[in-house]
This record gives sequence, C-alpha cells and structure tokens, in this order.
Amino acid sequence: MADLSADLGFRTLKNPVITASGTFGYGEEFLPFFDLDLLGAIVLKGIFRQARPGNPPPRLHETPAGLLNSIGLAGPGSAALQEIIRRLHARTPVPIIVNVCGEDDDEFAEVAALFSAMDEVAMLELNISCPNVRQGGACPAQDAGHTARLVRRVKESLHKPLIVKLSPNAADVVAVAQAAQDAGADALSLVNTFLGLAVDLESRRPVFANVYAGLSGPAIKPLALRLVREVCRKAYVPVIGMGGIASGRDVLDYILVGASAVQVGTVSFREPAAAARIAAEVA
Ligand code: FUM
Repeated sequence: MADLSADLGFRTLKNPVITASGTFGYGEEFLPFFDLDLLGAIVLKGIFRQARPGNPPPRLHETPAGLLNSIGLAGPGSAALQEIIRRLHARTPVPIIVNVCGEDDDEFAEVAALFSAMDEVAMLELNISCPNVRQGGACPAQDAGHTARLVRRVKESLHKPLIVKLSPNAADVVAVAQAAQDAGADALSLVNTFLGLAVDLESRRPVFANVYAGLSGPAIKPLALRLVREVCRKAYVPVIGMGGIASGRDVLDYILVGASAVQVGTVSFREPAAAARIAAEVA
C-alpha cells in the first residue's frame, strides 16, 4: 500500500482526500454509504451562530458539466451542530473540520471560538468566499484588506489550525491569498464556486432569486487548477486545492501543481461514496 499521508505542517492526514463543505452535509448523512475514516478529513457544511433557512428555491440548477447552487448557507445553527459533531465523533475517528461563517467579523470570530473549544474538532475552515449570501455575489474574500482584518481577528481567540477558504471571484486571488497567510492563516483552501448565471426562458427571468449562483463540478477544474497553481507558487502555508475533482487522476493534477491536499465536492451529490473511491484511486 502506498504511503498517501498528506502533511499540512500542523497535522498529517492519512491521505490527501477531504470532503468539501456544503457537499457532504454534516457527515452523519454519509455514514450509511462508506467508512468515513477512509478519508483524510471531512469538512462539514458551513455554520452560523443561529439557524438559517437559506435562499428560496430553486437552489440547484444542473449545467452540461457542472452544478449551479444558491443554497444561501442554510443550517441548523451552532448549538445543534455541536450536538451533531459529538454524535459523529463517537462513530468515526475521521478528523472533523468545521466550516465557519458569519454575517460580520464579530460573528465569524464568535463561531470560530465556539468550535475551536471542542475536542472533537480537528481544525476550522473560514468560509469568507460564499457567493450566495450578499447581493451580486460579494464576499470578504474579494478584498485583500478585509480578508487580512478578518483572519487576524478570528485568529486572536483560536486554539485550532485555521484554513481560509478563498474565492475565485476576486480580481487578484493571489493577493488575497497572500493577505490571508500574512494575517495568520495556517492553510489556504481554494477555490469556492465561480459566480454564474442561469436564465429561465419561459419566465424570461434568472433561475435563482439571488440572480447569480456558484458554479462547481468538472466545468471549473481547469480554471481552478490554474488558480491553485498560481497561489501555490507564492504560498508559504499549505494549500488545499479543489474544483471539479472526480477521480484519483484529478487529485494528482492538483498535487502536481503544489497542493498538499484536496477537497472533493460536487461529485458526492451523484455518487455519495465518491470521496472513498477517489482516495483508493490515488493509491
Ligand atoms: O449557497 C451556499 O450555501 C454556498 C456556500 C459556499 O459556496 O460556501
């Protein structure tokens, strides 16, 4: 058996395959499909302080080689997720990564501190890159200055490693990546979804209430791979690559351009055990 361990500096994972936030529920939903401990780690769906209903339907729209989503970070709130994490950890030793969200910098810091205090949580991922909560797809990761302030603020009260999840929709993704690492990010993950649009010809209106939505899946892999390569060339912290990964070969592409690990996302919607298959293919 090949040694697949992935060194993130602050932690070594048994292999480089991690599930991506928002595509793997809160972990429990996938327990019937495969042994989660076959993976390097799992990232849970993003969480705010309070429960959120998310955006009105429709929230998903299939494209020829990808998926547009406008979920709007629906979730049960931090207290409910703490219970879920305790249950999940009792059933699997797979490292758990909490995807932290916030309406403002204070909430990001508060939610991060809450989950940082849980023994069951291995590390945190700061979701500053969701395109579906503000008008026009705006998010903190579009701005290097805001990213730096936010990362510094969140790191103040943290006892766990912090991964910062970046957006491909920034004018200069490398500059935002540099701002995040200089402000104290322990690792970077990229890319979140690309801002896209779908039109409903019958109504002559955008498909999504929020107008724009985030594109993921095989269509974005070459675009994401380029951005991951560019960030890796400047990064001095580990980079976790994602975008359109559906096979072991896709993983190796990301590793070859400099990623230390990867996240597998959209493919899990049509093949719930895809992440385990992909890890086996890497071997
Ligand atoms: O709409 C959503 O919940 C998407 C989240 C994300 O891209 O981080």
